Amino acid sequence: MTRFYVTGGARLSGTVTISGSKNAALPAMAAALLTDETVRLTNVPKIGDVDTLAEILRSLGADVAQIDDNTWEITAADITTAVTNDLASRLRASILLLGPLLARHHSIRLPHPGGCVIGKRPVGTHFEALRGLGAEIVAEDGVYIGTTNGLTGAALYLDEVSVTATENAVMAAALASGTTTIRPAALEPHVVNLCEMLVAMGANIEGIGTHTITVHGVEKLRGVTHRVVSDEIETGTYAVAAAITGGELTLLNAPLDLDPILYKLRAMGVEAEQDGDRVTVRRGEELVGTKLQVDTWPRFPTDLQPQFGALMTQAKGKSSIHEWMYESRLKYTESLAAMGADVTVINPHQVVIHGPTPLTASVIDSPDLRSGIAFVLAALVADGESTINHAQLILRGYGGLVEKLTALGATIRQEEAVEAIV
Ligand code: EPU
Repeated sequence: MTRFYVTGGARLSGTVTISGSKNAALPAMAAALLTDETVRLTNVPKIGDVDTLAEILRSLGADVAQIDDNTWEITAADITTAVTNDLASRLRASILLLGPLLARHHSIRLPHPGGCVIGKRPVGTHFEALRGLGAEIVAEDGVYIGTTNGLTGAALYLDEVSVTATENAVMAAALASGTTTIRPAALEPHVVNLCEMLVAMGANIEGIGTHTITVHGVEKLRGVTHRVVSDEIETGTYAVAAAITGGELTLLNAPLDLDPILYKLRAMGVEAEQDGDRVTVRRGEELVGTKLQVDTWPRFPTDLQPQFGALMTQAKGKSSIHEWMYESRLKYTESLAAMGADVTVINPHQVVIHGPTPLTASVIDSPDLRSGIAFVLAALVADGESTINHAQLILRGYGGLVEKLTALGATIRQEEAVEAIV
């Protein structure tokens, strides 16, 4: 187990370089399975989830090389399609192998994927989409077995505007025969980034960035050099770090589309200016409470909800959060309350936070990646030294977190701890 020790009180200042997006890098790595040629990915974040997916791709026989910190090359010339249990259980995003393996290799054996424990996260939409394209998928003892004689384009209706189900459907449809429409498609920046990569590989896709994507299948896709879009969630997280500590940060290599995030920061009294890929953030006169409802892009992303929850504890007046997507993604507010926050839980999907309240340091278990980073943010303003257990979950999505925060003036250290066996 990794443990963070964070001492509150420092105002963060300086410049931080935003990394590539986790949720864009993972589908891009999976898409490399759609071709036997080499795919070169740049701006890849240095995070645990990328290492895990690289290990899965290697276990399938792909040649996976890390060229430097942020550049990877994947060649999937000759691969098998059976994913082992232990690897799939470490990464929810292993579900992204379904589309590419069925499309190019006509089979897959995928144990039920693991990942952050934030709610039910059903995978039915993925199967409906792939069955719609002609795949047969059965579940045997917690393992999904998929086969097809070749996918055929179809009009797909998705019950949920699901990010990874849209990505699976687009990847599968790219090599299916005929035309596929996907509706309603997700349009998160990482979905757009994947579609752009597929087009550069030779796919024929229309309606990118809209709720109706049309894919005209092609016989073969080629290798590509693709830049992973920068991470809007990491950008929002450092913006909150500036605001919550009363500091001022310049964020470099930021993604261009940050509207829902900058809008909500400004609604809370944060001064945030964007000039291309450079964003400056400082706390304004006073932080004020706001109403936040998560939704699919371009509305406010669930992956930033806990970080904003931490910020709300320092904002004047009433804030409210409505998190309809995940049933366990507000549980972190109980730990914020233990640190001194004024939190009223309405139900598992809704809380009210009144602020500002001083926070005191605490010992907190990080249940998942985004709650964990919210605790780091709260600890940055808490009185004393907080201990955050299971911080390895935070490092799944935040590359170089300790180094980056330290360079901005935070007091944070990381330690590997041996867990007691009970
Ligand atoms: N859902 C609905 N209705 C909808 C949309 C979603 O019920 O219209 C439900 C889904 O059933 C699912 C949940 O909400 O259980 C999340 O939706 P989605 O299927 O879009 O999630 P995902 O594709 O499994 C990706 C990200 C998550 C992020 C969600 C939502 C990747 C690899 N993962 O997951 O990222 O929370 O989209 O934006 O792209 C994270 O980075 O911390 C993370 C969990």
